[in-house]
Amino acid sequence: MNLGLKGRIAVVAASSQGIGLATAEAFAAEGCRVAMCARNDRTLNAAAEKITETHKVEVLAEALDVSDAAAVSGFVSNVVSKFGGVDICVTNAGGPPAKGFLACTLEDWQRALEFNFLSTVYFAREVIPHMQRKRWGRIVTITSITTKQPVADLVLSNAVRAAVVGLVKSLANEFGKDGILVNNVGPGFTATDRLKELARARSVASGKTEQEMFDSWAADAPLRRLADPREVAETIVWLASERASYVTGQTVLVDGGLYKGL
Ligand SMILES: NC(=O)c1ccc[n+]([C@@H]2O[C@H](COP(=O)([O-])OP(=O)(O)OC[C@H]3O[C@@H](n4cnc5c(N)ncnc54)[C@H](OP(=O)(O)O)[C@@H]3O)[C@@H](O)[C@H]2O)c1
Repeated sequence: MNLGLKGRIAVVAASSQGIGLATAEAFAAEGCRVAMCARNDRTLNAAAEKITETHKVEVLAEALDVSDAAAVSGFVSNVVSKFGGVDICVTNAGGPPAKGFLACTLEDWQRALEFNFLSTVYFAREVIPHMQRKRWGRIVTITSITTKQPVADLVLSNAVRAAVVGLVKSLANEFGKDGILVNNVGPGFTATDRLKELARARSVASGKTEQEMFDSWAADAPLRRLADPREVAETIVWLASERASYVTGQTVLVDGGLYKGL
């Protein structure tokens, strides 16, 4: 299938490892020029160099925190100066800590809002005018299965990700007339460092080993395994492609069937 993405300019936020990195790689494999960011410049630059070498595409990598609106604005300006625009923007950030409601501090709530909601607002504000000029654009937010089905001890994610879905639907409604499609991807349990972090937190709380945690998550999904980050990335790339040209305002779960609803 020709995805029609060759030469497109793709910004992928929080992309030095995990699902973000797999997404940056998948766009590069389709011949996109890719802009990546993360806070740790050493890990980010190593990831960017590997993508450049493997896929022979231009890559811009900039160390920044996606919860810093001015830094996001400067990053998008640099992408436009280097590549001439932005066609695709994938928003992402590290996930909030695993905690129950009473264990969450007000600072936890503030950080979850900044990382997992406001960062999407910051990117959308910057990229939409460029997409409007081209009358073509794709925004894909990375959230979680928690947008459909709350997960125990992830109250920060359960609550804050819902705001992203409201934003996605609103942007899809407002900017469809400009050829901009906006969708949300909700991963289920995916084999990344984030999941190792969750396994550590859960094993302390439950007395189970980390391996038992991974096994129980895998067993919960009808596919009986965790996702590979690449499987989430490929769904994102499809949503950004010409092959998904009539899909907007949707949440697509990549969860191996874990969501129990209809
Ligand atoms: N893995 C799963 O099972 C799963 C399931 C559902 C939802 N999710 C969600 O999907 C998202 C990605 O998860 P993942 O598993 O790929 O996470 P990960 O392996 O922990 O990777 C997170 C990436 O984001 C970067 N990052 C984190 N906070 C950032 C910030 N404030 N500014 C810029 N970059 C930042 C990290 O680099 P730096 O630390 O250097 O900044 C890293 O590159 C998270 O929101 C997570 O909650 C994951």
